[in-house]
Amino acid sequence: MKRATRIERLVDYYEDFAPDYVSTWKDIQHYEKPVRAFLREAVAEGARVLDAGCGPGHLTRDLPPSVEVVGFDIAEGMLEIAREKRPHGAYHRHDYHLPIPRSWGRFDVALALGTLEFCDDLPLVLKNLAGAMRPGGRLLVSIVERRPNVRLHERHARPLSDAELTGVKMYLYTFAEQTDAILASGLLPRSYRLHPGWRHTEYDVDVLYALWDLEVSRGGR
Ligand SMILES: C[S@@+](CC[C@H](N)C(=O)[O-])C[C@H]1O[C@@H](n2cnc3c(N)ncnc32)[C@H](O)[C@@H]1O
Repeated sequence: MKRATRIERLVDYYEDFAPDYVSTWKDIQHYEKPVRAFLREAVAEGARVLDAGCGPGHLTRDLPPSVEVVGFDIAEGMLEIAREKRPHGAYHRHDYHLPIPRSWGRFDVALALGTLEFCDDLPLVLKNLAGAMRPGGRLLVSIVERRPNVRLHERHARPLSDAELTGVKMYLYTFAEQTDAILASGLLPRSYRLHPGWRHTEYDVDVLYALWDLEVSRGGR
């Protein structure tokens, strides 16, 4: 299935999910704590923050008003909620497989959480995100790590759910694929840990994220 068709299906799915996403979010995702800790440490007053695959914007909506939040997502329903909750934020419809528009400016901090499981080309997407950052900028990203000894994690691409998302796959990357893509994008790892991401109820498994705290090299890309 072509990327464009997969994205259309994802859009349909997330449009429907948008109104209930935050209320069910706590049940399906376990990474709120490390995200909040990262934002406390990395976001200074007046910083510019990019929230990639922002959903309804819940991870960055409570940042102080002096912080300029720019979120993007493919699902307009998600963006509408994000705009309503943080009216002074900027929220755009955009696909991370494409370069981040220069007109959005450059960023000090970026998040790409709970979203890169739909990315079919990790080097391309990390390059797009890194290209939007200022030197020394910080990123927190989650990537489903392909691990042969963990159920659901054995294959590079796994159908998510025949019931809701026919043809849409979750993409997984080995540790080596992740580090290659990170370094090729001019990003440097500050820390890495494996962290439970969300519970895949259909398969009764916690999906494991590699949670990367990354820094844009100051020497230029
Ligand atoms: C599980 S939600 C994650 C939302 C939020 N970042 C979080 O961690 O809770 C995944 C989001 O990624 C968005 N998404 C999926 N593919 C995308 C793409 N190619 N470009 C931008 N956003 C995408 C979906 O529309 C959805 O809102």
